[in-house]
Amino acid sequence: MPKEVGFGCFLFFLSLAIWSPTGRSDLVISKADRRIDLTSHIVRVLSTLKVEKDGSGVVSEILLAFPNMQAKNLANLKALYIEGKGKGSAVSLLVTEVHPEGMPQELTFYSISLPEGFDKMKTMTLNILAIFTHSLQPFPEEIAQSDAQLVVFQDSAYYLSPYVVKSQSLSVILPGGRVESYTKHPNGKLIESEIKYGPFGKLPPFSYSPIVVHFENNSPFVIAERLVREIEVSHWGSIQVTEHYDLVHRGAKNKGGFSRLDYQSRSFMGGRSSLRHLIAQLPPRAHSVYYRDEIGNISTSHLWGDSRKTQLEIEPRFPIFGGWTTSFTIGYGLPLDHFLFAEEGKRFLNFTFGCPMNEVVVDNIIVKVVLPEGSKGITVSVPFMTKQWQEIKVTHLDVTGRPVVVVEKDNVVPEHNVYFQVYYTFNNLSLLWEPLMLIFGFFLLFVACIVYMHADISISKSSASYIAKLQWDEVQATVQQVRNVINRCFSVHEKLEASLHDLSRTGDIQSCKATRKAADGLLKEYSKELKPLMVFLQSSSQAAQIWPKVEELVAKEKEMQEKLMQKHSTIVDCFEKKHGGREIDNRVAPYQQKLAVLKQEVDDLLEYIDEI
Ligand SMILES: *[C@@H]1O[C@H](CO)[C@@H](O)[C@H](O)[C@H]1NC(C)=O
Ligand SMILES: *[C@@H]1O[C@H](CO)[C@@H](O)[C@H](O)[C@H]1NC(C)=O
Repeated sequence: MPKEVGFGCFLFFLSLAIWSPTGRSDLVISKADRRIDLTSHIVRVLSTLKVEKDGSGVVSEILLAFPNMQAKNLANLKALYIEGKGKGSAVSLLVTEVHPEGMPQELTFYSISLPEGFDKMKTMTLNILAIFTHSLQPFPEEIAQSDAQLVVFQDSAYYLSPYVVKSQSLSVILPGGRVESYTKHPNGKLIESEIKYGPFGKLPPFSYSPIVVHFENNSPFVIAERLVREIEVSHWGSIQVTEHYDLVHRGAKNKGGFSRLDYQSRSFMGGRSSLRHLIAQLPPRAHSVYYRDEIGNISTSHLWGDSRKTQLEIEPRFPIFGGWTTSFTIGYGLPLDHFLFAEEGKRFLNFTFGCPMNEVVVDNIIVKVVLPEGSKGITVSVPFMTKQWQEIKVTHLDVTGRPVVVVEKDNVVPEHNVYFQVYYTFNNLSLLWEPLMLIFGFFLLFVACIVYMHADISISKSSASYIAKLQWDEVQATVQQVRNVINRCFSVHEKLEASLHDLSRTGDIQSCKATRKAADGLLKEYSKELKPLMVFLQSSSQAAQIWPKVEELVAKEKEMQEKLMQKHSTIVDCFEKKHGGREIDNRVAPYQQKLAVLKQEVDDLLEYIDEI
């Protein structure tokens, strides 16, 4: 029995025992049947609860309780009930995290809103699916290439609930293979690859009985520590998707190195839990598919598909064992008409959110939707909590850059691979921008060539016009230098913004302050660099026309710095005083508005200066 592993769980149950809290009495769970699926590295718990009203008051919610240790790994929680007597359609119910009073601190509670009809029915059956990641611990933590991977899972044999539970049972589904040990219980038995506990009779609220199962699970524990998906929409008829993966195998670590000979000659024995290939479910009609890593294109991929889906099977250059990592990129194109629609004067993209790879857990996903230049009024609709913001992506031929919507989420499982929508408005005239620019650009080039060919010949090296040209070149070079320094200032601005973003995510005030300090130093240095350049420009007669704009640009950038620093101090201060998000938003709003105005002004100035 793996004592070290079991300790945390037992400690938790012990604290509950000391507390012995009173539960809720407005409902009774007349029957609770649970089925825990441990066949992959993602743990799926399906609970069927028969709920009865107890008493005459109005009951609008039912509470679910999870030990904090489990709740931190909870990736998805869904509640469904079947309308009518068995034949109706499944209705999904609203689930929210709550903090009810007088309940133990060691538990995290979720509230499920019961449908209105419940008060009349007095009884109903709920199906609850809870999905956990990182919940199987490899034990032993290191294995040799030919060993099977053993893991430990812990839970309670009784359904932990704030309500009285009249009868219940539990079934734990294992992937098959060896079962090292499982907690024996009066009513527990192992039949083939299923452990059954129960049935148990009436139990008071918060009853528990720890169980530990130690079993063989050779599925590769594939975790994408980071997945960045970029979905680029072009109104010229296509969508280009690029996905960058940083994968790690978080199963038992490989001990004693890797032998390809063993691996190939004894394929039944070697590397049973290694990751050999991955299958991505891509949308139908995907084309121009590629798969590459840092070294280059990898040809060991297979593609097949029909009218409903495309499957891409990829094989890394070598099998990935426990503790090993790999990074790669896949990309594909899609026809626009299956994903982009128009509705009430708006357009919307309807696309899948999560990771298209089978049974991969994503610790952190970032989905970027790059919209055509000139898109406005952008809104996003995702059916679960995410963090969202907007960026600009500038590519060649863009005038103002393309708006990018960024959606970020942690702890993502295959069940998150659902559709989300990005709505925006777009003026069809904008579509003409790029070709017009191309035509205009060629025209200018043509004219410039003619002018140059006629002009240059007539310039003699000693003439006044030649000297003027030299001076003008120098002015241009200096303006370019100013431009470079300003650009570096902007990247410092970006770093500051990023540090605030990190702060809101991690709450790490110290590192945010460190970034601020570094930024202060850099900006001071840049300001010193600017001085001689500005003095030159001011004194040069050739710069007379452009000087006021450069001067204004530098002043505006300075003003942006100040506002940004004030915003930064305000947010850090709020975090230190532990103010809430709304409070922070209120305090920051004036700076934010001013910054937006300044940014627009700076953009206009830059555009002017770049045109000289
Ligand atoms: C890799 O494959 C893509 C798509 O097939 C192709 O466009 C690209 O040129 C290839 N790159 C190399 C280095 O072979
Ligand atoms: C998005 O596409 C899916 C699959 O085609 C469809 O079931 C869903 O209704 C669409 N969503 C919207 C809002 O159109």
